Amino acid sequence: MMTEPLFDSGLFRRVCGQFPTGVTAVTAVAADGRLAALTVNSFTSVSLEPAKVLFCLANSSSSYAALTAAERIAIHILSRDQEDIARRFATSGLTGAQRLGGVGWTPGPGGVPLLKETPAILVGRRDEIITSGDHAIILVAVDHVHLKPTEVPALSFYQGRFTTPVVATAE
Ligand SMILES: Cc1cc2nc3c(=O)[nH]c(=O)nc-3n(C[C@H](O)[C@H](O)[C@H](O)COP(=O)(O)O)c2cc1C
Repeated sequence: MMTEPLFDSGLFRRVCGQFPTGVTAVTAVAADGRLAALTVNSFTSVSLEPAKVLFCLANSSSSYAALTAAERIAIHILSRDQEDIARRFATSGLTGAQRLGGVGWTPGPGGVPLLKETPAILVGRRDEIITSGDHAIILVAVDHVHLKPTEVPALSFYQGRFTTPVVATAE
């Protein structure tokens, strides 16, 4: 049942924007070889055993067809040094292949693009897709993880801006 909200969507966005998130770059390869690449902050872990994560994808996204048909998906947790990738992958008017053309990557399991110099990467099989409102919730069954120790903090998104979390240092 649809009910009229008592607020406008701009206020809804601003309230949700009070929640600081990390920033990920999602890449995928569809069965026909088409590549997808976009910036996503709706990422979260779901299950430890089996390992599953999810992200939400707008129905209007130009990556929708490729991602919902993708066999394999990689989720890159970006560092502060990778803000240029986050901006590039969020640029409308570029295809997945064009977005990836501007950054260094190598093919991972099943050909899924893996971005170089990324501290943490999760790779897996596209699992269930749950449609809800104007987004699809895409579950990924993770079967490979990569972790490179780094001193560089994660890239964050807060109040509509890229930012860096303050990391406490031991005295
Ligand atoms: C920080 C940030 C987080 C984003 N998170 C999401 C997200 O979780 N889901 C989504 O569908 N799009 C998200 N986007 C938007 C996409 O990255 C992309 O900008 C949008 O799909 C426009 O590309 P398109 O015109 O090719 O569809 C985010 C953008 C930014 C800058």
